[in-house]
Amino acid sequence: MFDANDKNKAMLSFDEMDEIQRPAPENVGFDAVLDSAISRRDFFKGSALLFGSGLFVKSSLAKAASLQESNGLNLFSFKDVVANSNDDITLPDGFKWKPMVSWGDPLWSKGQSFDSSDLVTEQSQNLAFGDNNDGMKHFSVQGRELLAINNEYVNFASFFSHRQSKAPESRGDVLKTQQAVGVSIVEVSAGSQGWQVVKDSPYNRRITAQTPMKITGPAKGHSLMKTQQDPDGIQSFGTWANCGSGKTPWGTYLTCEENFNGYYASTDPDITISDELKRYGLAHQGYGYDWHTVDKRFDLAQNPNEPNRSGYVVEIDPANPQTMPKKRTALGRFKHENAEMVIADNGQVVVYLGDDERGEYLYRYVSNNKYRANATSEQIDDLMENGTLYVAKFHDDGSGEWLALTSETTGMNHAEICIHTRQAASKVHATTMDRPEWVAANPNKAEVFCALTNNKNRGLKTNAGGDKQPVGGPNPRENNRYGQVLRWIPSQDNHAADTFNWNLFVLAGNPVVHPKGLLSGSQNVSSHNMFNSPDGVHFDSQGKLWIQTDGKTSNEGDFAGMGNNQMLLANPQSGEIKRFMVGPKECEVTGFSYSEDKKTIFVSIQHPGEKGGSNFPYGKLARSTVIAIWHKEGHQIA
Ligand code: FEO
Ligand code: CA
Ligand code: CA
Ligand code: CA
Repeated sequence: MFDANDKNKAMLSFDEMDEIQRPAPENVGFDAVLDSAISRRDFFKGSALLFGSGLFVKSSLAKAASLQESNGLNLFSFKDVVANSNDDITLPDGFKWKPMVSWGDPLWSKGQSFDSSDLVTEQSQNLAFGDNNDGMKHFSVQGRELLAINNEYVNFASFFSHRQSKAPESRGDVLKTQQAVGVSIVEVSAGSQGWQVVKDSPYNRRITAQTPMKITGPAKGHSLMKTQQDPDGIQSFGTWANCGSGKTPWGTYLTCEENFNGYYASTDPDITISDELKRYGLAHQGYGYDWHTVDKRFDLAQNPNEPNRSGYVVEIDPANPQTMPKKRTALGRFKHENAEMVIADNGQVVVYLGDDERGEYLYRYVSNNKYRANATSEQIDDLMENGTLYVAKFHDDGSGEWLALTSETTGMNHAEICIHTRQAASKVHATTMDRPEWVAANPNKAEVFCALTNNKNRGLKTNAGGDKQPVGGPNPRENNRYGQVLRWIPSQDNHAADTFNWNLFVLAGNPVVHPKGLLSGSQNVSSHNMFNSPDGVHFDSQGKLWIQTDGKTSNEGDFAGMGNNQMLLANPQSGEIKRFMVGPKECEVTGFSYSEDKKTIFVSIQHPGEKGGSNFPYGKLARSTVIAIWHKEGHQIA
């Protein structure tokens, strides 16, 4: 179990733990990279590759009215919220919020009410909402409203607040963490108390680290997928590290396994970790969950293939709670952020996928066959199992291409490409990215956005596979501390086309601390709306782009004036960005969905007080919470 020396480890981010546990890659020659960055700076600042540069004039911001709501509320007319470090939700005048569901709230009446002095047991956690709510999607089923919500991991500061070590200290503690992760599916409704979970709904469901899953697609049955427990490589147990999400036109939920590696560890300190596993951050020590002490699946010394069975997109049918989730290996294995699905004009299913790690890649999946409304479940399986993965390559002139990952281009077979996807992408020399987070496709036109959150290794180190991270293209700053939002437009407005054009929708920065140069950000960043580390990007039904952040909240130095993590609203046409919400202390703002009538938006407030500094939302122990936000006049806002 965690010992006292590990206490501080519980306060580290997954990235920081990965860096500690994996030897730092080679320095790639900082001086040379810096020279090239400096020479690029002037080029980039005046370039059309930066949205708004030159072409962008502030007066055009007033023309945001093209996105005006049909009921007369122009959501861009609200007064920007001022950045702050309050332990609260701050919204523009006229908007209200309430906590809807928090970690530990029972989803069935036989569950016990959350008690912050007693916390939950393994059994009560299994009947309750999981921790660290993240990505989510809304589903309408038989006139009822469901939310499928990821529970990414557990926030040790709150989850183990009753333990001196602030970490698991018993077998029961470890098993409880396995019940607190995965996915919660809840029915919600708006009654006299506002939006709340419908307890005992037949649709309520918990999917945890122990729920049986079908392995589907090219990797199914491959020797790398076979374990002691599953010698055929066809069924795994559980999903965890579920970060972003997606929704299919056939009404299913896509949940994406991100930092899956940290749940594995080795009881034998001397085993050799293969290069294949090292690329994914597997190490002798995990993140401190100690799952390997209660379940040999997580012991690398006994089950070296088990990690090959996580790091996928998992498809879940919220309308049919008895169905088994399906791991969709055709969509590749990496630290998946989200899965943004669109149907190309010709009917092919296209899924955009980011790998959130410094210097990893941006991907696209294209099905072989075409989607038709009322497709049978066999046809759906075919669309999700038979297709091609591509990885993005960006050129400095603003063009780009999707490089197919095939036997011919990688020398790997299809199953190997789907299991060792990072290695396949390295072989075709794709563009190493500044941590691709959520991808969002504009519902009104063929254009796609991806948050590149930050990358302190840009220009300084290789990725774990030894691929260089040169400064340039969509990753224009060395030691990128602020992040940027990338946009690409598929050729001929066709998501299935293999080429595109790109620009940067916003380069985050701090124009007060850094009045000049790329650190000041693009022209649509000002002292009024500055932020760092964009993460969630989501379109609503009106085509407004919501940007959420997961960044530094010190509010000092490079980050002075930015306050807590926040949610901003952007007009993709004009480039205008306004701060709509500020979250409580030490939280990340993530996950976005909205009610059927589009009058309420649902947002995840994840790990408030992750370092112990918050009492959100009830003035007691800080708890991850999904909040509902609405306008007091009942306007449509999404
Ligand atoms: Fe769980 Fe990349 O965020
Ligand atoms: Ca994220
Ligand atoms: Ca993030
Ligand atoms: Ca997170």
